[in-house]
Amino acid sequence: MKSLAKFMKTFGAVVALMGITAFGAVAADAPKATLTSNDCVKCHSNPPADIAANGGAHKTSVSCQDCHAGHRPAVKNNIPQCSQCHTDKSHYKLSGCLRCHNNPHTPKIIKLANNITDECLTCHSQQIVKLKQVPSKHTKLACSFCHNVHGKIPQCTQCHKPHSADMGASDCKRCHQAHMPTAVTYASDTANKMCAACHKKASELHSKTATKHKDVACVTCHKDKHKTVPACQSCHGVPHPASMMARFTKCGECHNIAHDLNHWSPASAAPEKSAPAAAVKKGHKKK
Ligand code: HEC
Ligand code: HEC
Ligand code: HEC
Ligand code: HEC
Ligand code: HEC
Ligand code: HEC
Ligand code: HEC
Ligand code: HEC
Ligand code: HEC
Ligand code: HEC
Ligand code: HEC
Ligand code: HEC
Repeated sequence: MKSLAKFMKTFGAVVALMGITAFGAVAADAPKATLTSNDCVKCHSNPPADIAANGGAHKTSVSCQDCHAGHRPAVKNNIPQCSQCHTDKSHYKLSGCLRCHNNPHTPKIIKLANNITDECLTCHSQQIVKLKQVPSKHTKLACSFCHNVHGKIPQCTQCHKPHSADMGASDCKRCHQAHMPTAVTYASDTANKMCAACHKKASELHSKTATKHKDVACVTCHKDKHKTVPACQSCHGVPHPASMMARFTKCGECHNIAHDLNHWSPASAAPEKSAPAAAVKKGHKKK
């Protein structure tokens, strides 16, 4: 619609120009036609269409000819430098404006090559701090490897598979931050099944236990930060006489593992227990 309107305007201008020409032809030789910004669309289709659609300030504040002064054959180079008009900000001292502002006729649409980091830091200072604070494989990637269109936030699942089939793209943020992905933390309402994706054995044991720990969520004990292991005493204090605890120093000697308290036997407190336990450990190491 816009280009049609533009065409009609151009058409009118051409007719008007021809009228003047016919009128003046009596006295003068061939008239000296003046190229105006309305004429460009007759021979060039993309730039006018781009500007009409997404020209931004390059549509409203400048004309074709403010940027393109003169034309072939009279003027060989009519391509402007950005610095003709944009000066005085440190951003305007970057090299190769068109690397990011790929199309000067759509200046706000910015597609980025995948190796840009330093330039981003002139405007965004927070993310690099996190990336360096907790070094990970993301630290080695350029900002624009992930943000290839300016302002666009990628989904983690564009590049990674979820840990389980029932985990979606919106769940990743529960445990990971994009700019420090290895520092895994989570909120207190994180479901057990999220942990189960990687901890099958612990989850099965815990979900089958007949003890009251069954109703305690994984993240209530393994609080906030991945790999946190709680001390039983942090919730229970020391519920048994000191004399007993002096003999059996670890709660697990009688209660076994927290996931399955029920699965304890008095035998586990006896010295013999250490032999099979060591054998199991060795068996693991062999793998
Ligand atoms: C009568 C047709 C015609 C009109 C009208 C016209 N141009 Fe062109 N323009 C051309 C041709 C032909 C070329 C050369 C294309 C080439 O060599 O690839 C060209 C080339 C250009 C170039 C590229 C120069 C370069 O170095 O690559 C620019 C910029 C340009 N025109 C801008 C304009 C602007 C702005 C207007 C309106 C003010 C305009 N043109 C009007 C025909 C036209
Ligand atoms: C803000 C300045 C600016 C304005 C306004 C502008 N241009 Fe351009 N134009 C440029 C620059 C810079 C280039 C060179 C792009 C490149 O090197 O990739 C260019 C390239 C061109 C080219 C040659 C390459 C191509 O894309 O075909 C044409 C033709 C052209 N412009 C026409 C126009 C027309 C017609 C208008 C008005 C509707 C216009 N331009 C408005 C800055 C401008
Ligand atoms: C003939 C003058 C002129 C040239 C040449 C020019 N610009 Fe602009 N540009 C302007 C004006 C005027 C504005 C609006 C005021 C401002 O933001 O400074 C503008 C605004 C912009 C904007 C913001 C657009 C918006 O809608 O807010 C960007 C981005 C931009 N220019 C990039 C460029 C790049 C990149 C080049 C070189 C390829 C360039 N300009 C060349 C005059 C120009
Ligand atoms: C590394 C990519 C990159 C390079 C190189 C780059 N720009 Fe930008 N530019 C941007 C981004 C991103 C924005 C912010 C866009 C927004 O606000 O949405 C921007 C904004 C702008 C703006 C509008 C806002 C403002 O701060 O004035 C202008 C004008 C501009 N750039 C001109 C230029 C010029 C001129 C050059 C070359 C000297 C250049 N840019 C080089 C990425 C770049
Ligand atoms: C000229 C300054 C400038 C440059 C350079 C710049 N940005 Fe931006 N960026 C902005 C502005 C302004 C916004 C919009 C305001 C906002 O949402 O914070 C923005 C928004 C963003 C957003 C979306 C933020 C959100 O909360 O949705 C991302 C992501 C982003 N930029 C990444 C980058 C990357 C990556 C680079 C380098 C390739 C870069 N920016 C270069 C100024 C810039
Ligand atoms: C591995 C991909 C990746 C890399 C590399 C990356 N980001 Fe991001 N970025 C993201 C994701 C994903 C988000 C969304 C975070 C969220 O939703 O919590 C994001 C969010 C942002 C935001 C929005 C505000 C915020 O902090 O959440 C900005 C701005 C941003 N990134 C800039 C950058 C800059 C600058 C760099 C380089 C120093 C960079 N990013 C490197 C993936 C990445
Ligand atoms: C544009 C692609 C891309 C996006 C988007 C992305 N990543 Fe990555 N991520 C990578 C690449 C590449 C690696 C390195 C893989 C390798 O070397 O094995 C990586 C590595 C990782 C690692 C391992 C880090 C380490 O040091 O071991 C984690 C964790 C990770 N990503 C989580 C995420 C999360 C969570 C999101 C969303 C917030 C995300 N990624 C978004 C590309 C991406
Ligand atoms: C319940 C918490 C949690 C959720 C939700 C979660 N992750 Fe993870 N993720 C982890 C933990 C913990 C690790 C680290 C394991 C380690 O230390 O090796 C990890 C590691 C990764 C790694 C490194 C390679 C690997 O597989 O070990 C990638 C990539 C990753 N996560 C991507 C994602 C994506 C994508 C999502 C969303 C679909 C997501 N994560 C959701 C906890 C989570
Ligand atoms: C992406 C897989 C993954 C997810 C999801 C995951 N973990 Fe882990 N977790 C691991 C890996 C790998 C280890 C390290 C195992 C090792 O060192 O043998 C680990 C270790 C642990 C440890 C043992 C720490 C130690 O010192 O022995 C605990 C406790 C733990 N995770 C709890 C959780 C909890 C709670 C969740 C859910 C919020 C969870 N994990 C989610 C992969 C994951
Ligand atoms: C995050 C807090 C927390 C931690 C850590 C914790 N527990 Fe519990 N434990 C509970 C809660 C809550 C109950 C249920 C109390 C109730 O309902 O009366 C419970 C119940 C028990 C019971 C009674 C079980 C039953 O079914 O009657 C035993 C025994 C027990 N815990 C032992 C332990 C041992 C041993 C450890 C360490 C290996 C431990 N707990 C670590 C919170 C915790
Ligand atoms: C010598 C074996 C032994 C040791 C060591 C031991 N307990 Fe117990 N604990 C028991 C027995 C036996 C019971 C009673 C079981 C029952 O009533 O079914 C019990 C009961 C409990 C109860 C449930 C109390 C109630 O009122 O229901 C909690 C909680 C508990 N122990 C926590 C701990 C903690 C924490 C430690 C380590 C500081 C620990 N226990 C060490 C043997 C032990
Ligand atoms: C009542 C507190 C409690 C709950 C609930 C709990 N854990 Fe644990 N977990 C512990 C304690 C304490 C240890 C250290 C071993 C021990 O002393 O019992 C542990 C050890 C672990 C370990 C390392 C040893 C192993 O078995 O691989 C993993 C992994 C783990 N828990 C994951 C989980 C997951 C996943 C859940 C939920 C399905 C969960 N835990 C629920 C307290 C708990």
